[in-house]
Amino acid sequence: MFDAYQVRKQFPSLANQDSLIYLDSAATTQKPTAVIDAIKHYYQTQNANVHRGSHSLTANATSKFEAARKTVQAYIQAKSEKEVIWTRGATEAINLIAQTYARTNLQPGDEILVSEMEHHANIVPWQIVAQQTGATVVKVPIHKDCTFDMEAFNRLLSQKAKIVAVAHISNVTATRNPIEEIISLTHNVGAIAVIDGAQGIVHEQVNVSELDADFYLFSGHKLYAPTGIGVLYGKLDLLNAMPPWHGGGKMVEKVSFSGTTYSELPGKFEAGTPNIAGAIALAAAIKWLDSFSRIEIEQHIHRLQEMTYKVLCELEDIRVIGFQPQSSLISFIMEGVHHQDIATLLDQQGIAVRAGHHCAHPLMDALGLKGTVRISFGIYNTVEEVEKLILAIKKAIDML
Ligand code: ALA
Repeated sequence: MFDAYQVRKQFPSLANQDSLIYLDSAATTQKPTAVIDAIKHYYQTQNANVHRGSHSLTANATSKFEAARKTVQAYIQAKSEKEVIWTRGATEAINLIAQTYARTNLQPGDEILVSEMEHHANIVPWQIVAQQTGATVVKVPIHKDCTFDMEAFNRLLSQKAKIVAVAHISNVTATRNPIEEIISLTHNVGAIAVIDGAQGIVHEQVNVSELDADFYLFSGHKLYAPTGIGVLYGKLDLLNAMPPWHGGGKMVEKVSFSGTTYSELPGKFEAGTPNIAGAIALAAAIKWLDSFSRIEIEQHIHRLQEMTYKVLCELEDIRVIGFQPQSSLISFIMEGVHHQDIATLLDQQGIAVRAGHHCAHPLMDALGLKGTVRISFGIYNTVEEVEKLILAIKKAIDML
């Protein structure tokens, strides 16, 4: 039986701050001892650069670093570890695709279809490459209930489309997009599908090979791993055909002033010294997560979300935005009150939530909002915390 109270004890930042109620896991998660220990262990006993030098310390660091890649490969069920590229996070991964695949393949008149609910990280890199190539970014609208408008997508999808970019799960409403159908329709017109898995990988077991996404990417820090490490999964033939992005050490085979040749995958996209400890810690986070039943974690999180939703619905002036049942978060507003004021009053009661536009201006525009208060749950949240949250929201309303 999943016991969130026991899990919470494995997070020093929460265990050491007993009264802290952390409800901002969609922004970043707290880190378990298993992950913190992996970082400590690496720096205390294994620290060396990777793929460089000949001493045994570097050989050991390289083997741990590459084993971490294999852990990720197995976790997302990629066919080859060469399809797993380390990045700083989801944002860098999308920029990499935009500046390599997109920049070399797009031509004036081509279209990049992007859903209206996307995080800025899945919009702006496409706008930049559209400017560079003469392609156009086309918005795929959403329904009023914050779900993907499949009819509009079908209408907009034509031979001009070369890239379709959508989130697996929205960071604002937790809308789970029908990515399987989107990918298949995208392939029917000969385009490629880029799936932003920053939120999705946290709440679903992903099999990239079965999904058939051309690119799937995520950050480690939302998956209980550190910041500064992320993953770009790409199909081998696409990655092989792409030019390199950042130039530097490790991404080259032979450098000379008459011309340079590049490394094989995955090194071609990993210039410079990588975040070695981050990669090892991400593997530790995955192994730690695997010690739980994924279904039980999600059932627990859904229960907390449902409890919160029921109460919010009963409160006058509170409007839940784009509620998605059985998901990990709730966004809401209070009529006539600034979202930041609510978040501040909750913060004063020891409750951390995020308020703002959540890096999704176009979604806010579509909803006619400036921002929302977002409550997002993680593996360590408890029923007692939700009860306290409810009391705190009621108290905040009384004060406003
Ligand atoms: N993308 C993160 C969020 O939704 C930062 O909060």
